Amino acid sequence: METVGPGHLAYIPGSGLYSAALAEFYNRAVNRYGGLASVAPALAALEESVIGWMARDVFGPQGSGGSMATFSATVAARHRRLGEDLAGGTVYTTAFAHHSVAKAANLASIRSAHIRTVPHTSDLRMDPDVVAAMIPADRAAGLRPFLLVATAGTTDTGTIDPLPQLAELARREDLWFYIDAAYGGFFRLTARGQERLTGIEQAYSITLDPYKTLFMPFGTGALVVRDIAALTPRTRAPAATSRT
Ligand SMILES: Cc1ncc(COP(=O)(O)O)c(C=O)c1O
Repeated sequence: METVGPGHLAYIPGSGLYSAALAEFYNRAVNRYGGLASVAPALAALEESVIGWMARDVFGPQGSGGSMATFSATVAARHRRLGEDLAGGTVYTTAFAHHSVAKAANLASIRSAHIRTVPHTSDLRMDPDVVAAMIPADRAAGLRPFLLVATAGTTDTGTIDPLPQLAELARREDLWFYIDAAYGGFFRLTARGQERLTGIEQAYSITLDPYKTLFMPFGTGALVVRDIAALTPRTRAPAATSRT
C-alpha cells in the first residue's frame, strides 16, 4: 500500500523505495546481524561507507554512526562532561524536542527535574538569550549543565533552533552540543537546506534518520559524532586477583 496519500492508515509516512524494501527483505532472510564486523564483514563495511558519506556531507570530514542515536549521544555527552559522577547533571532543550530526548536523558540516569525546558521565541525556536541566562544560574545553584540539545526540524512544526547562537553558547559554557536532525538534517543536501541549517556542522553529535527524508525502511537511524572515541565505553581491566 502507498505510504503517502489518503489511503495511508498510519500517522507517519515513509519507506517509499522499492529497492530499499528489497534490501531489507534480503537482509532479514540472509543475515540480520549486519552490525558486527566479525559475523558480516561486507555488510559492516557497506554500512560504514554509507555512514561516512552522511558524516562528510552533513557534518564535515569526520564521523561515526549507529542506532538509538539520541541515547548514544546523551551517554557520550555524559561520559565526556560528567564522568562517573552524575550528580546534578543538567540538560537543556525545548518543549518542541522529540520525546526521545527526555527519555534518553532519563535512561542515562539524569533526573527529570534536571531536564530543563527552555522557553521558545514567538517563532517556536529555542530562545538563545534565556538559555544563556539559565546555564550560569543553574551552575551557581550547584547543578552541572553538560548537554545542550537543539532540534533541526521539530516533529510538530518543522522549526529549526538557532544553531549558530547555540553552538557559540555551548562552546562558551563548555556544554556538549547535540542536534537532533532526525527529521530535518538531510535537507542540507538541498541549496535551501544548506542555508537554513547553517551551524549544524558545529555540533559535537547529530542524529539523522534516513528512514524519513531518504525513504529508507522504518527504523533506519544514524548518529554522527565529531569525536569517535566518545562512543567507546570506558572499561577498566579487572584486577588480576578478581579473575576466576
Ligand atoms: C525530530 C525527531 N527526533 C527523533 C525522532 C525519533 O526517531 P525514531 O522514531 O527513529 O526513534 C523523530 C521521529 O519522528 C523526530 O521527528
